[in-house]
Amino acid sequence: MCGIVGYIGYRSAWDIVIKGLHRLEYRGYDSAGVALMNGGLKILKKAGKVSDLEAFAIDADKTGTTGMGHTRWATHGEPSDRNSHPHQSGDGKLSIIHNGIIENYAVIKEALIAKGHVFKSDTDTEVLIHLIEEIQTDSVDLLEAVRLALNKVIGAYAIVVMSRDFPDQLIAARKGSPMVIGVGEGEYFIASDATPIVEYTKNVIYLKDLEIALLKRDELVVKSIDNIIQTPYIQELSLKLEMLEKGGFEHFMLKEIYEQPRSVRDCMRGRIYPIEGMVRLGGIKDYAEKLKNAERIVIIACGTSWHAGLVGEYLIEEFARVSVEVEYASEFRYRNPIISEKDIVIAISQSGETADTIAAIELAKERGATIFGICNVVGSSIPRLTHAGVYTHAGPEIGVASTKAFTGQVTVLTLMALYMAQLKGTINNAKLVNLLTELDEIPALIEKCFKEDKKIALIAEKFKDSPNFLFLGRGSGFPVALEGALKLKEISYIHAEGYPAAEMKHGPIALIDADMPVVFIATKNSSYEKVISNIQEVKARKGKVIAIVTEGDKIVKDMVDYVIEIPESNEAFLPLLATIPLQLLSYHIAVLRGCNVDQPRNLAKSVTVE
Ligand code: F6R
Repeated sequence: MCGIVGYIGYRSAWDIVIKGLHRLEYRGYDSAGVALMNGGLKILKKAGKVSDLEAFAIDADKTGTTGMGHTRWATHGEPSDRNSHPHQSGDGKLSIIHNGIIENYAVIKEALIAKGHVFKSDTDTEVLIHLIEEIQTDSVDLLEAVRLALNKVIGAYAIVVMSRDFPDQLIAARKGSPMVIGVGEGEYFIASDATPIVEYTKNVIYLKDLEIALLKRDELVVKSIDNIIQTPYIQELSLKLEMLEKGGFEHFMLKEIYEQPRSVRDCMRGRIYPIEGMVRLGGIKDYAEKLKNAERIVIIACGTSWHAGLVGEYLIEEFARVSVEVEYASEFRYRNPIISEKDIVIAISQSGETADTIAAIELAKERGATIFGICNVVGSSIPRLTHAGVYTHAGPEIGVASTKAFTGQVTVLTLMALYMAQLKGTINNAKLVNLLTELDEIPALIEKCFKEDKKIALIAEKFKDSPNFLFLGRGSGFPVALEGALKLKEISYIHAEGYPAAEMKHGPIALIDADMPVVFIATKNSSYEKVISNIQEVKARKGKVIAIVTEGDKIVKDMVDYVIEIPESNEAFLPLLATIPLQLLSYHIAVLRGCNVDQPRNLAKSVTVE
């Protein structure tokens, strides 16, 4: 939530910061602002997107080689010019950008008001810069003032601070919100993730929680918040610039949908051996014994990642015969969950930064569980918190609505289920050979799903003005239905719900009339006949049915209004295929409704607040 970028060096800070903010806009787009050191401390900020800020600042003097910028997802205070970052101290000498929430800001604010501080915004961030101002005296330098102030705050933060009195310094710190430092020659970069940095340097340092850094053009000092000098570890980025571009597609979301044959293939590469009937997962192999003996697995995640977890439940129970519970991280962390050292917890997160998932991991870790991560962003917080894990290798996902990350997560869960089955002997080698041979074909089958894209666009045309949608499926088709409904809601703003198809008659069937589009996952699998009965129930009430069917299916075709075909596959891999047309359907509907597909309203890609 909120994107941060900073630069100190010899190039135009404005150019670097603005370009970086465009890359980080997926993290929030309620307002944008930049602080530049050019003579004094120049602040340019505006409600709206980064492009609104650029238009606003068109005639401003934007020279300067030290600067920082922020793109906001509002928490404290409505999106407005006044609440936009950077915020300043009372004397205007200090400026701050912040990602996170200062939980005790009200108490600090009250104390500062009593000392005469006057606030201009409703934000928690402004309180922090006034606190730094209060602490900084002639005998306390900027780094020390920020450090002392951070010792007084409760909450999460990634901050960058600039000072008119220390024009050749940036101070950065983090707790619970990500921060990456790019190391150049005679220059340093700082950002919420590596995307603003990648075209300038491949050498990065992931700042750790409770670390504070002083950046000068030719010097970097990293300390812990309790004042112990740290030796930062410089690592090489594997990210490539072309991964951050649209590559000829109209939207990132469409590009990412079409990338799935590649991303699923990358996820399986080096991990499946169909001829031998073997799965290798290097990231968790040291825990093989633990996996073999696990009596219970708890999956924690949020949103789309939680839907992937539900698919994982079907797969792990089916193949490895271990009981699985799937929990919303945001609920799990606030209960008093029964977790012990015997449990394996799998945390799923695209960003690796979701605050609720992080808190749930910490809770499960305290109680002795072994924690595995399934993450997409390499080097993010969750992989560093977990005991072991498996990356999805989907590559950067920039569209706010998750697509290729979901299929990556489902692929990893499929591999984990088969790996566990192999360890436990709940599956014989011949069956594993067959399953892995079919799994190996999945990228090619995803490619075939795209043949229906034009037809899906025509169906979207018919239903683009529907105010409601239902998505129904059974077995692992149920999480697919949930995911289809979520995609439609978040990018087209149409109200949609996903249900297990059999649950329909326990309430939602009351919603069915001639204006209600119902999307069924009706492929040929073990629940095919049952789903057909559910389709009949909807048709009997004049509902409009769009069915995702197995290629060549005539029975469902004759029964429903529209069919979208997907290739035949093993039932276990159905979610990897059936999700694709649902992603395309929501994409086309959103485009036809004129919605901002890549940056839907009120959302942010990385939810680092609770
Ligand atoms: C939906 C979506 C969100 C995320 C959720 C968890 O398209 O992207 O529902 O899945 O915010 O985020 P991660 O996976 O980063 O933990």
